[in-house]
Amino acid sequence: MDFAAARFADSLGAAGRRRTTVSADGSVTSYRLLDGSGDGVPGVYLDRYGPAAVLNVHEDARLSQSWVTGAARLTLEQLGLEAVYVKAFVRDRSRLGGREPEELRAADPRAGRAQPESLVVREYGSRFEVRLYDGLSTGLFLDHREHRRALARRGLPRVLNLFAYTCAFAVPLAAAGARVTNVDVSARYLEWGKRNLALNGLEPAAARFFRMDAFAYLAYAERHPGERFDLVILDPPTFAVGDRRRGVKPWKALADYPALVQAALRVLAPGGSVFAASNTRELAAAGVLARLVTEALGYAPAWQTLPPWPADVSESGRVAAVLFVP
Ligand SMILES: C[S@@+](CC[C@H](N)C(=O)[O-])C[C@H]1O[C@@H](n2cnc3c(N)ncnc32)[C@H](O)[C@@H]1O
Repeated sequence: MDFAAARFADSLGAAGRRRTTVSADGSVTSYRLLDGSGDGVPGVYLDRYGPAAVLNVHEDARLSQSWVTGAARLTLEQLGLEAVYVKAFVRDRSRLGGREPEELRAADPRAGRAQPESLVVREYGSRFEVRLYDGLSTGLFLDHREHRRALARRGLPRVLNLFAYTCAFAVPLAAAGARVTNVDVSARYLEWGKRNLALNGLEPAAARFFRMDAFAYLAYAERHPGERFDLVILDPPTFAVGDRRRGVKPWKALADYPALVQAALRVLAPGGSVFAASNTRELAAAGVLARLVTEALGYAPAWQTLPPWPADVSESGRVAAVLFVP
């Protein structure tokens, strides 16, 4: 499709007006500016990170490179940004044969000037390190912003953050007084998580870090009565490869999520709650994740209310989340 500057400028303007509540007081410097079809631009997701933005373009949208460059330049100008990076999203990454587009790691953006390797963004009282040209993801999943805040407000003391990634959930929860146990198979992401906690002036004792397979940790915790939690956070990827040498089983959300819920229950303290989320397309449809949890438990748990989707991601429907007390 050829780039129609006026049409894109209108979409960006209208999207900005719908988001005035998100950024009004400056306490949130990282949020979604365009949310695909919800903002009239199917397959195009634009996320702001302080002075810069990332334009994620889905291959299904079939947009030409000139369209993408036009959109990046116009975004830069219209929003007065310093840089707009572009990330091409390919549904089946195995087709790339292990090679990523070079642009994912290029300091020079598609529009504007190069940014430092890492930037710090703010989300309410939290600060997060983001990296805009370090592969496909940036270190912060914006669609969980209100979940991070809502879970922190519950003020629960012992929290297990499985599939912790850069420990974004841990930051506001630890700031609210929780001791957060973070589990992830990636040492690099856990190091990033440690930097995120340090960036927020949190004491090392506010968190623990286990470089482990989530199921292996749950089996270990089940055997150790000291490892019990008032809140367990489950936010796994859709797929992950295994590594037999390190005891990591391949993960497939559609097949493995019920067993994950069951194993999480075995480390839950009496009265504890489980936050379960998924961005897997089949699970993100309305009601599907709640049904999966109900089937895994064999009964309907006490569902707890989560905040409504904020103005910047309300239309996406690409992430499902439930909170329950079994
Ligand atoms: C979708 S991200 C999680 C996002 C995170 N909950 C957040 O809010 O920022 C998926 C994470 O799961 C980790 N992971 C993949 N397979 C795993 C496994 N078997 N056990 C533990 N972590 C795993 C990856 O390294 C990655 O950091």
